[in-house]
Amino acid sequence: MTVAIEMGQTTAGAAAAIDLEELLATRLLVQGNSGSGKSHLLRRLLEQSAPWVQQTIIDPEGDFVTLAERFGHLVIDAEDHTERSLQVAGERVRIHRVSTVLNLEGLDAENQMRRAAAFLGGMFEVPRDHWYPMLVVVDEAQLFAPAIAGEVSDEARKLSLGAMTNLMCRGRKRGLAGIIATQRLAKLAKNVAAEASNFLMGRTFLDIDMARAADLLGMERRQAEAFRDLERGQFMALGPALSRRPLGLRIGPTDTQPRNAAPRLMPLPEAALEDARAIILAAPPPETTARPPRRAPSPDLLSQLMAAKPAEPDPESAEPPPSAEQLAERRERLDRILRAILAEPDAGFRAIGVLYQEFVVRCRIEGLGAVVPELTEFRRMLTRARAGLGADMAEDDAWQDVSLRAALLPEDMQGVFMMIARAAKEGWPCPSDAAIARAYGTHSLRRARHLLTYIEEQGLIVCQLDGAGRRTVTLVELAWATAAADPNADDAAAEAGCSSSPP
Ligand SMILES: Nc1ncnc2c1ncn2[C@@H]1O[C@H](COP(=O)(O)OP(=O)(O)OP(=O)(O)O)[C@@H](O)[C@H]1O
Ligand SMILES: [Mg+2]
Repeated sequence: MTVAIEMGQTTAGAAAAIDLEELLATRLLVQGNSGSGKSHLLRRLLEQSAPWVQQTIIDPEGDFVTLAERFGHLVIDAEDHTERSLQVAGERVRIHRVSTVLNLEGLDAENQMRRAAAFLGGMFEVPRDHWYPMLVVVDEAQLFAPAIAGEVSDEARKLSLGAMTNLMCRGRKRGLAGIIATQRLAKLAKNVAAEASNFLMGRTFLDIDMARAADLLGMERRQAEAFRDLERGQFMALGPALSRRPLGLRIGPTDTQPRNAAPRLMPLPEAALEDARAIILAAPPPETTARPPRRAPSPDLLSQLMAAKPAEPDPESAEPPPSAEQLAERRERLDRILRAILAEPDAGFRAIGVLYQEFVVRCRIEGLGAVVPELTEFRRMLTRARAGLGADMAEDDAWQDVSLRAALLPEDMQGVFMMIARAAKEGWPCPSDAAIARAYGTHSLRRARHLLTYIEEQGLIVCQLDGAGRRTVTLVELAWATAAADPNADDAAAEAGCSSSPP
């Protein structure tokens, strides 16, 4: 019996199908630039084949979790599991023949690679009794099998590349049919791409990708030029499971929708024209906007920070720098304006651009138009303010040290770190996930937990849970520690515990 998976229509209007048994034996590579319709294609393939064959999706963005409702896939949030438990889960998936989505959303590249490798490893290493056929779909495969070393550790790369190579090169015997999709063929490890005998090529712009595609398909490079003109959802098919000669096809509709739909058009913020003129055409802040003088940090920290540290103002500049008192007073006023903006309901979730506009207008009203901080500085103020920290803390010696450490983190995380540092310094209860999420400007508790893990991985904090599930965070080296508190405490309780700045 052959099972034909209907993918859509050929350019000539006939039904375009994939031969499932042939696909299981020969694997598939999908390539096309962003927006060409790869994920849609994968979804169509998964939906159409779900009744026939077990499947698993390695899903870096959490796009495919919506398959669960309709087709009963088990969603595994990789963020919540260790590598070891994912390895075991991979084995059990095969033993019990359950279709799954491995959702890797919210993890950094290193952990996405490690956890995907663990899960794939489990599926690969299951005993022979369980080698039933299944589809293993990997979207954005270049993340897991990159052509060149990126920023991740060698170990993570080796694990992940090994798992992908096993899947594509040695998986067939074990019943695993690799189906991989990538935006950029040139970014995908060659040995992983080379094992697929079926190709679906979508719109491709870059010469280097076109050349790789032509090589893989055994086409003239000139012929591959046609990939430039493909529309969204249009693919060129070739391979034993598809067509013996290059065949144009258009992918049909899907029953389910990606969870992360494209950004929608939003009504523009209501701002009177006068305001717009004032905001856009306001005199730029003077170049010499002075920063508070820094106390000398310890030399090794200093060298670490040199790369990231913004340039000090030019001492030769004409204008005399404002006195320390003037600076402090100015900072306090700017801070007050910011606090007033943040006190408005839902301010925590408004786009930074909108908050900045409002901030600029209010500064001008208060006669501070000439010293309005630039957007990057505003961003910094915002993260500190969201974390409940006042400008006055810049004076404190210990805080200088904390801000230097914070500078090792990406800017948007610094405020959260400062908030935790503050709680630790004062011995307050450890901020809950909800409080951390709010300080980070997100509704997602998972993202908050992920953030905490990230900061811990950077060696800045140590998180511990006690027997009752209460969390303590200790600052590395400073050894300040928060009081133990329930990470799941609701926002209001957490707020009372950790944010002391008056509105
Ligand atoms: N054949 C199709 N019919 C209808 N809509 C489609 C089709 N293919 C893609 N789309 C729509 O086009 C948009 C982009 O498609 P998709 O997300 O599949 O692109 P992609 O190639 O996966 O991009 P990226 O590499 O950025 O993930 C989506 O909104 C999708 O629903
Ligand atoms: Mg996609």
